Amino acid sequence: MSRIFSGVQPSGNLHLGNYLGAIRNFVRLQQDYECIYCAVDMHAITVWQNPDELRKNTREVAAAYIAAGVDPEKSIIFAQSSVPAHAELAWIFNCVARLGWLNRMTQFKEKAGKNRENASVGLYAYPNLMAADILVYRATHVPVGEDQKQHLELARDIAQKFNNDYHTETFPLPEPLIFGAATRVMSLRDGSKKMSKSDPSDYSRITFMDDRDSIALKLRKARTDPEPLPDNEKELEGRPEAANLVGIYAALADRTRQQVLEEFAGAPFSSFKPALTDLAVEKFGPIGEEMKRLAANPDHVDAILKKGAERAAAIANPIIREVKDVVGFLQP
Ligand code: TYM
Repeated sequence: MSRIFSGVQPSGNLHLGNYLGAIRNFVRLQQDYECIYCAVDMHAITVWQNPDELRKNTREVAAAYIAAGVDPEKSIIFAQSSVPAHAELAWIFNCVARLGWLNRMTQFKEKAGKNRENASVGLYAYPNLMAADILVYRATHVPVGEDQKQHLELARDIAQKFNNDYHTETFPLPEPLIFGAATRVMSLRDGSKKMSKSDPSDYSRITFMDDRDSIALKLRKARTDPEPLPDNEKELEGRPEAANLVGIYAALADRTRQQVLEEFAGAPFSSFKPALTDLAVEKFGPIGEEMKRLAANPDHVDAILKKGAERAAAIANPIIREVKDVVGFLQP
């Protein structure tokens, strides 16, 4: 049986990359599968979070899921910290994963930067918690953007090593689901960097909070090159900013990049950008509006998170019990 799990960090500045790379796919998958979607607050505190902001951002992630179309009656929406089994399994995985494996994680290297000695231990062990998130539900498929691929490979390695070490078939090997025309949305200011919550420039990303005017302004200021758009994908090579905007257009319009280029072949950015602005306002704008409306009603969101946590725990608790038994923990 297939089961879907994914999560988004409540660290503020939710953006178009999170939507196109992940959240939009969450919605599509719920038609056919049992889906569990989490606001990963324990991951968020691997770097400093103001407690009030964290509460607000956790509700905002849940609100974004719902606004985008995740149905809380059908799919499970909850906050990671409210299901203790995640932390319990993460500890066990801290003892399964090898230092050498974590040393290879590019995201840690990027996030820790030059001052590695000063990074939290949590930031280093982050992928082990992520593996626990997935495997504590025995999830088989994980919709994510391209940047999470390496973490998913690690989750598979952990599942495999656990199964081998204990001579069991406790865990499935989870597979990433990376699909759509914008699996890696790049910064609007620099086509070589991914769009991210932590970029110091607000102009680098379109967020769920942006209204028509700010979407228009950010796209107008978005970096491009002087050439008009080509008529085929091959000629986007070496033009990262152009490729990014075409990818965003294609994803929002639910078309391929090639189809978009066929329509806009020869167009200068001065006409492509307004068309992209209209499309982004039409497709993404209402989701942001709905998210703001939901986030303004925290009691409603909290009730959804509470029910979601109960449903999630009902799946995770028997699995963590079984895992503890395999490991040899006494369970009074
Ligand atoms: P996070 O919070 O950084 O991002 C949430 C989701 O958005 C995707 N994403 C992007 N997709 C396309 N273009 C971009 N520029 C872009 N930026 C972000 C991410 O790939 C992700 O799917 N470690 C995860 C959260 C997590 C998780 C999990 C995911 C924790 N436990 C278990 C899946 C399963 C993270 O930091 O995502």
